[in-house]
Amino acid sequence: MLIVANWKAYVESFQKAQMLVQAARRAARATSHTIVLAPPAPFLSAFARRSIGVRFAAQNVSATQGGAKTGEIIAAAYKAAGATHAIIGHSERRALGETDALIAEKLMRALAQGLIPILCVGEGERDSEGRYLGTVREQISAALAALGTRDRAQVVIAYEPVWAIGKTGADVIAESDLTEMVLYIRKVLAELLPGKQAASSDILYGGSVEVENVRGLAGATGVNGFLVGHASVDPKQFSALVRALA
Ligand code: PGA
Repeated sequence: MLIVANWKAYVESFQKAQMLVQAARRAARATSHTIVLAPPAPFLSAFARRSIGVRFAAQNVSATQGGAKTGEIIAAAYKAAGATHAIIGHSERRALGETDALIAEKLMRALAQGLIPILCVGEGERDSEGRYLGTVREQISAALAALGTRDRAQVVIAYEPVWAIGKTGADVIAESDLTEMVLYIRKVLAELLPGKQAASSDILYGGSVEVENVRGLAGATGVNGFLVGHASVDPKQFSALVRALA
């Protein structure tokens, strides 16, 4: 499985970052799962050059190709700093105004540098008519439409329903609902990828994944891994979570 630790803006000191990286490396030694850490950019560059046991992801990449763009961090810079993955289109960035078109550009920038994009999709709320399915379909199609099939096959989809993000383990998605979503996302991918390629795309779940619920969610739902937020910045919790999946 692929376990992505999204540190968001929770980590403010080098010392804490170091503690989390060390704990993740220890956890990685005891598991066959792939662990990817997504620290704030300054910490990523401090650790990712020596990414023993774990890999590193950008939390976001610039849609620009660089130049006179103060404050932007381009995919090439993340690549040079040692990142292998890039989270793109997180709902917290969509809430700041990122559109599907902008997210599609970011995907292209990441792919052009050989970074594996982790495309976040998910509905704001669930309705009884199933409109949320259309939202997820639209987000995936809009992001992948302009890519060639080879690039499309590289994209990891992280299904993160906004209503489940940043809550407690008790508010996580029901396992049966997750099973249904994974099947649905694979169906959407099957329309965008040739042959049976969609069967090998990675689909992650994110939104209040914690030690207590991760095993159940991993069970028969068909997910290939998790995007973990708040539980990833507590070294004990994160290690226990990785162990729970062993
Ligand atoms: P959470 O965040 O685990 O704190 O809900 C997940 C995410 O937003 O990626």
